[in-house]
Amino acid sequence: MKYIDIAREKLEKIRDKKDIIILGIESSCDETAVAITRGKDALASQISSQIDIHARFGGVVPEIASRNHILQIDNILEKALLEADLQLKDIDVVAVTYGAGLLGALLVGLAYAKSLAYALKIPLIGVNHIKGHIFANFITYKNLEFPFICLLASGGHTAVLKVKSYHKVDVLGSTCDDAAGEAFDKVARVLGLGYPGGPEVEKAAQKGENSVFMPRPFKGEDHLNFSYSGLKTAVINYVHNTKSRGLNINKYDVAKSFQTQAVGVLIENAIRAAKKENIFNIVLAGGVGANTALREGLKKTAAENGIRVYLPPKSLCTDNALMIAVAAYFAVKDNVQADSLEMDARASLGLNS
Ligand code: KG4
Ligand code: ZN
Repeated sequence: MKYIDIAREKLEKIRDKKDIIILGIESSCDETAVAITRGKDALASQISSQIDIHARFGGVVPEIASRNHILQIDNILEKALLEADLQLKDIDVVAVTYGAGLLGALLVGLAYAKSLAYALKIPLIGVNHIKGHIFANFITYKNLEFPFICLLASGGHTAVLKVKSYHKVDVLGSTCDDAAGEAFDKVARVLGLGYPGGPEVEKAAQKGENSVFMPRPFKGEDHLNFSYSGLKTAVINYVHNTKSRGLNINKYDVAKSFQTQAVGVLIENAIRAAKKENIFNIVLAGGVGANTALREGLKKTAAENGIRVYLPPKSLCTDNALMIAVAAYFAVKDNVQADSLEMDARASLGLNS
């Protein structure tokens, strides 16, 4: 029997099982991560971050990222199995990020996952990284019900979504240019705050006292879209103009003023989306979701509007493999087919792929 037939038959046998054991692999950017879940429960989560390696370049160098994934992945898998106190033979399904992300980096995880699935003769499921960010919430909020509004703010995406099931995600509004995380990263670079930008801007903003004028993207407009390029340019212009007049820049004040506007538009659109759709549950997802000003602001504004918010722990906002494993669990429950060994890595991917 061919591998794909064995895999598909096995998936049908376990589809209705509540406690499916899934091994998740994530290598789309600069984190090599392996996790194990049983149903929606986390059994193990191991991450090897390359932040220190890329920091001196001021951003992720794709070739270096791929090489380090190769060096780390065996070790991280072993650690995850130890943490879960399981062996490879206990795994029911291998789930892996197949996009979006850096192609070379994705290919490391994908080739590794394919080899495991083939050797163990178990189903392979390719997971969309963004679906991973959204479904990460189920690790913490197991009884979260569909449909819900998701405020997605990551390094590559910024959107408000209506999540109806694993396969049905409506985009209610999205960014017309830069993503929120991308804007945080660029502003950090302009202010000389280093990499990764988001947490550095957040730290600097905590020391800010005075506000510097920054425009609020799409203020007063009726749609649910986002734009960050104007805000980013305002920071760049402010820094250049101030420097050219021979004045000192207070980077703490700039960081604070930028963050207030960047986060403000996220909160505003999420609340408006909930009201428009009559869905009073907002779920936060993506790396920018680790930002305390966003978390606190969203919690406060939602409470004022009678809306419940679900904030995943910060460790589940940034990249990890638990989110990939739990997303695969929902994919299985939503009748996904096992993937073939021909599955390819994708640098970009639509939300409903
Ligand atoms: O969600 P993620 O892994 O990106 C994509 O999948 O595209 O998150 C990475 C992004 C980066 O842009 C990073 O600067 C940002 O999330 N980020 C933050 C914080 N922590 C990470 N942005 C603002 N405040 C933070 N604390
Ligand atoms: Zn991510």
